[in-house]
Amino acid sequence: MPGFARVDAAVSCAASIAETVRVMHLEGMEQITTMPGMGSLEALAWDEGCQNDPVRNEFLIPKLAKILATERPATVLDVGAGTGYIPRIVDSHLDYHPQWTLVDTNAERMELAEKRKLPAMKMLGVVGSLDDIVARSETYNVVMLTFTLLETDNPLSMVASATGLLAENGLVIIGVPDVWRDVLAVTGAGQVLPYQLLTGTVDLPKIDKFTGAAYPFYAMRTESLISAVLSHFCVLEKFERGGPRGEAYLLVFRQQRRVRSATPRA
Ligand SMILES: C[S@@+](CC[C@H](N)C(=O)[O-])C[C@H]1O[C@@H](n2cnc3c(N)ncnc32)[C@H](O)[C@@H]1O
Repeated sequence: MPGFARVDAAVSCAASIAETVRVMHLEGMEQITTMPGMGSLEALAWDEGCQNDPVRNEFLIPKLAKILATERPATVLDVGAGTGYIPRIVDSHLDYHPQWTLVDTNAERMELAEKRKLPAMKMLGVVGSLDDIVARSETYNVVMLTFTLLETDNPLSMVASATGLLAENGLVIIGVPDVWRDVLAVTGAGQVLPYQLLTGTVDLPKIDKFTGAAYPFYAMRTESLISAVLSHFCVLEKFERGGPRGEAYLLVFRQQRRVRSATPRA
């Protein structure tokens, strides 16, 4: 594990941090540097955005806490955990503490996750990609991907890797936005992008609502995502739409015990 920088600053000013980050991006700064003693402004703005996000706080987190309270998994992997906001709050709602593994390619977000984890939380933070977790050859009772899948350039490969990490009877829990909103926000009345979405994926430029930073987004129909997970020995247990404007989906799949194929009759 890398040494995590101290992030000492009180972040009551994080709303203005988000604004600062937005302005920095508008001025064409490609990289937000780490401020001494503060961690990354971008990571702070992200975490502040999560704290104020009704989709996470009123929809995903209560649902996740309920699922984990019922299932009581020993191990949970959060892929693309960001600053660890969701696992941090979910863990605080549980009457036990699963072993969390958080992985994210963004080192500064993981530093903040480490800094802000609650004392009782059992958490291993890994700076890296899902491929680094696959290389560890461990399995998990729950693999979570909240708002991560469609920000990778190969969501279907990520689905294959994530389902391959499940322990027997494990759950893969996916949070995704309703991508039609993103497509229509770009196209307006245009016809080309909706057609592309119907037939595959659409690469969209998207602006992060918390940090103001531009990032690539690969819009894919939720139905395509579901069928991809189902093809990896999983069944769909839960499919819910939520958020103040129904802007997100929560999908819960369960790994089925692999059944040996029948011995052919002589
Ligand atoms: C939109 S954020 C979601 C963060 C968190 N799951 C949440 O919902 O608050 C997506 C995160 O995925 C991370 N990410 C993207 N590709 C990744 C990969 N291949 N492996 C691990 N993390 C990745 C990004 O750095 C980013 O922090």
